[in-house]
Amino acid sequence: MNAKQAAAYKAVAHIKNGMIVGLGTGSTAFWAIQYLAEKVQQGLRITAIATSAETEKIARECGIAVAELDTVDHIDIDIDGADELDGEMNLIKGGGGALLREKIVAAASREFIVIADDSKRVEILGKFPLPVEIVSFGWRHTAAKLVALGCHTSLRQRDAKTFITDNGNYILDCHFSSIPDPSALEQQINNIPGVVESGLFVKMAGRVIVGYSDGTAKEFS
Ligand code: A5P
Repeated sequence: MNAKQAAAYKAVAHIKNGMIVGLGTGSTAFWAIQYLAEKVQQGLRITAIATSAETEKIARECGIAVAELDTVDHIDIDIDGADELDGEMNLIKGGGGALLREKIVAAASREFIVIADDSKRVEILGKFPLPVEIVSFGWRHTAAKLVALGCHTSLRQRDAKTFITDNGNYILDCHFSSIPDPSALEQQINNIPGVVESGLFVKMAGRVIVGYSDGTAKEFS
């Protein structure tokens, strides 16, 4: 069992019969979906809510029934990965481009469990470029306002084309190098017209499970 698997396995142990479960996106959340699918095959009953089209496809392929978020009034537990994680359980997310749905699902959840391998832990967020989802209209002007906050930006590309999110938007990867006050920066970014959401998840995680290369995992809450 590798570090990502170890964290995912421990998180899935929190899922009980009848729960509504948020399914994250990315290579760590992938393992949580696999372990959950095994439990579903053994008789666990859950309703799953996906944070991306990619996750919905993976979940359905391994036999997990997926519902639309608006068909439920809350989510019991959301399990998702992170690109960076500080000592206050603040996160950078969106490396896979799913940050908007990930944040909506996390906000609708009674408990948000973050799973990550040990390499994701940092003292101060910001080395990983902060993904910001923006509307395409006037995007250069939105980018200029982000640059004024002290970063340089790159418009995310995939397969030599501009990356388009599940919501039809663009992503600007914002290179700050250091984010000493994630809460203040999140507010400044969200005040810029054209910004849909940032990948800063401030004080949303209720529990963090870190996996290690020896196959063990530790919980922090
Ligand atoms: C997806 O948009 C992201 O927020 C992921 O949760 C994050 O990038 C972590 O992905 P990995 O688990 O693949 O590192």
